[in-house]
Amino acid sequence: MKVFVETERLILRELVDKDASAIFELDSDPLVHTYLGNNPMQTMKQSKEVIEFVRKQYSENGIGRWATIEKESGDFIGWTGLKVEDKLTNGHVNYNDLGFRFKPKYWGKGYATESAIACLDYGFDVLGWEKIYGAADVDNLGSNGVFRKLNFSLINTFHYDNIKCNWYEMIKKDWSRMNLD
Ligand SMILES: CC(C)(COP(=O)(O)OP(=O)(O)OC[C@H]1O[C@@H](n2cnc3c(N)ncnc32)[C@H](O)[C@@H]1OP(=O)(O)O)[C@@H](O)C(=O)NCCC(=O)NCCS
Repeated sequence: MKVFVETERLILRELVDKDASAIFELDSDPLVHTYLGNNPMQTMKQSKEVIEFVRKQYSENGIGRWATIEKESGDFIGWTGLKVEDKLTNGHVNYNDLGFRFKPKYWGKGYATESAIACLDYGFDVLGWEKIYGAADVDNLGSNGVFRKLNFSLINTFHYDNIKCNWYEMIKKDWSRMNLD
């Protein structure tokens, strides 16, 4: 199983077929989907399809979301990572997106920030990307908190499936983990 990055407390590795029940636990939780369109996963088949979809991105784009493992417990806490988004979003298509999704038990520990820092380093230094974007429901305090903490620029707001979202941008030359609070 390929490990892409290790941080102080987390392992970021490829998603594999055997993660299907962990992804189902994550994505069938209505709390997790509060700001993701309120449409939690219903079946294990959907979970397997998600993993298949991400693995297709690994082979086609060389990148996709990563399973995020808590080192201390070995628990699968959710996913973080980069994605080449081919869905038209706020006027952008085939753009580089940063996202994160964890089980509620692991919220509030700084894990999204810690893993996102590793993803930004990877996107700019290893993949050579110039820009990385993020989007969050304006009411999603957690997600907006992460983008704010990472010093993303808030560019504008837009509507995605009737949900008002903030659109964030990080440019390679502006990225430095040293400038974080
Ligand atoms: C969004 C999410 C990934 C945040 O993960 P997390 O590990 O709890 O985030 P962090 O601990 O790194 O927090 C980063 C900052 O946001 C703030 N924050 C996090 N959750 C918050 C909340 N619910 N309310 C207010 N601020 C919050 C933190 O306080 C922190 O800022 P600080 O260090 O200045 O205090 C997590 O809540 C989640 O998985 N939510 C469900 C899925 C989702 O909405 N994903 C985002 C889609 S765009």
